[in-house]
Amino acid sequence: MSNESLANLLKEERRFAPPAELAAAANVTAAAYAQASEDRLAFWAEQARRLDWATEPTETLDWSNPPFAKWFVDGTLNVAHNCVDRHVEAGNGDRVAIHFEGEPGDSRAITYAQLKDEVSRAANALLELGVTKGDRVAVYLPMIPEAVVAMLACARIGATHSVVFGGFSADAVASRIQDADAKLVITADGGYRRGKATALKPAIDEALTKCPQVEHVLVVRRTGQDTAFTEGRDVWWHDIVERQSAEHTAEAHDAEHPLFILYTSGTTGKPKGILHTTGGYLTQAAWTHHAVFDLKPETDVYWCTADIGWVTGHSYIVYGPLANGATQVIYEGTPDTPHQGRFWEIVQKYGVTILYTAPTAIRTFMKWGDDIPAKFDLSSLRVLGSVGEPINPEAWVWYREHIGAGKAPIVDTWWQTETGAMMISPLPGVTTTKPGSAQRALPGIAATVVDDEAREVPDGAGGYLVLTEPWPSMLRTIWGDDQRYIDTYWSRFGPGASAAGAAWRYFAGDGAKKDEDGDIWLLGRVDDVMLVSGHNISTTEVESALVGHPAVAESAVVGATDATTGQAIVAFVILRGTATDSPELVEELRAHVGRTLGPIAKPKQVKVVGELPKTRSGKIMRRLLRDIAEGREVGDTTTLADSNVMNLIQAGLTNPP
Ligand code: WT7
Repeated sequence: MSNESLANLLKEERRFAPPAELAAAANVTAAAYAQASEDRLAFWAEQARRLDWATEPTETLDWSNPPFAKWFVDGTLNVAHNCVDRHVEAGNGDRVAIHFEGEPGDSRAITYAQLKDEVSRAANALLELGVTKGDRVAVYLPMIPEAVVAMLACARIGATHSVVFGGFSADAVASRIQDADAKLVITADGGYRRGKATALKPAIDEALTKCPQVEHVLVVRRTGQDTAFTEGRDVWWHDIVERQSAEHTAEAHDAEHPLFILYTSGTTGKPKGILHTTGGYLTQAAWTHHAVFDLKPETDVYWCTADIGWVTGHSYIVYGPLANGATQVIYEGTPDTPHQGRFWEIVQKYGVTILYTAPTAIRTFMKWGDDIPAKFDLSSLRVLGSVGEPINPEAWVWYREHIGAGKAPIVDTWWQTETGAMMISPLPGVTTTKPGSAQRALPGIAATVVDDEAREVPDGAGGYLVLTEPWPSMLRTIWGDDQRYIDTYWSRFGPGASAAGAAWRYFAGDGAKKDEDGDIWLLGRVDDVMLVSGHNISTTEVESALVGHPAVAESAVVGATDATTGQAIVAFVILRGTATDSPELVEELRAHVGRTLGPIAKPKQVKVVGELPKTRSGKIMRRLLRDIAEGREVGDTTTLADSNVMNLIQAGLTNPP
């Protein structure tokens, strides 16, 4: 980022101190930063001791062959034992682990003791189906408790799971099954979404025509819809799991045993199978969940609204919360079924105290109107989390005011599938928060911002986010492709690649800036930075400025090739219910961005649309908008959550380019 444009950007001066009461009783205080900076490895060794090890590790980090890290390498432990059995052994078997809320309104409470039995039965069933330690198992399930049970059963026996999001197509599932060479698939007849039973099993049947190595398909009955069965291959979950013994002795696995593979699509090339292992991953997932949410397992009710098919679901529905003995809510469906207050109704029903959701959801709630959450009792909420993309200050402030009663601290958590767990985030009892900034690397994590030459930028300047020390939950490689792992993450700013010496630096792919206090502001993927008349301008900042205008509910900004300026800024906006599209409003929005960020950031065009193209994880597909802005035929839309959106946008354009 050029510093002159940065000086204009993100002038956000609101500050929110942590609530005194929370700070006084916080799990983690400012001392953690000091302790970790004094001895980072000793800090992580201490956090590892929060887990139950069969063999205590004596070595914390082996970094003798960078960028291939080994954490706690001579330790052994069982993840399922840590997430379930040990809580029962500690006398907390009657504590609810999962309050499950189905979309149609069915609910189930599952205690830790019941979860232990269910995971043990499922582990025995996997063994009966011929799955053994080291095998890969693909999981393609809706958001139901069996998804958690399936993952923990794999972890228990040392099988490596590869969860594929239930919204993905048969082709996407097939390529992931093939890449991981999975021998078992766990799926369901279907799940409930938007008031309908949506089938899942047909996608598996289709995918498996290309995956001969799969021996069995284990099928959960969720909806009861008609389901084709292949004799000898397919097995009902209730037939095989329920007749198993609830006794299963969890064997300890090596700290570096592969726990899971999770595919991340990226913008180009085939999906990358991100590999996470056992001891370091669980250490950081559990500690960050304890520290960043200030979780008190006896009294808190925690709810993460992500899907288990994303890393957020892995680390902050399954592994982190369960390792900490949390009570949590799992909700199957969409936020507007059967009405737009469904989330708040759930918060009220279960007395949710900690909520973790995404900026895209928050902006949707803003668009639906303040009156909807106002109808529910949200007074139980005490910590609010955000993840997935930069949160613009207006959405941040709305979240705090309308969901958090103007009191609950917001933790804006930056991390990635690759990092496995949170990396940059405020601590709710320590940090004076700034709307829109993830602020500071967590204790034990080393992050900074560098320029093109890998030199650390001064405070007040921008560049690329890098991680300068290995961390426990880091990806270990890309499954089956060590070279791609090196090339993708470590070459750009690694040893020999720059003037800045021989250090290993992990390139996250995100642009970032440091403010005058040294706090970090994430600016989106570097692929999303525009170059306008020689100035770097991030799409995030222009979007944030637009959403700061009272007429705008949501926006997406792209750079379109322009003969004069190299790239020109084209903004797509969704208006709030109270505003109407007019040439005057469009002019006003352009002027508003110019006033907020400086004339250079003024969009050349502002287009009012009804919807924005998003992936199923809520990320805006700017590539498709760029196609429209540049007057091309719209490219591949297969990963869109709603494939009709592009037609709507095209049809709704009032002044096509
Ligand atoms: C990318 C990783 C982390 C779980 C969900 C996404 C963006 C994520 C933030 C945040 C700004 C964020 C980054 C990152 N991102 N959280 N708090 N502020 N940007 O996992 O699909 O692997 O995506 O999401 O661009 O690189 P993912």
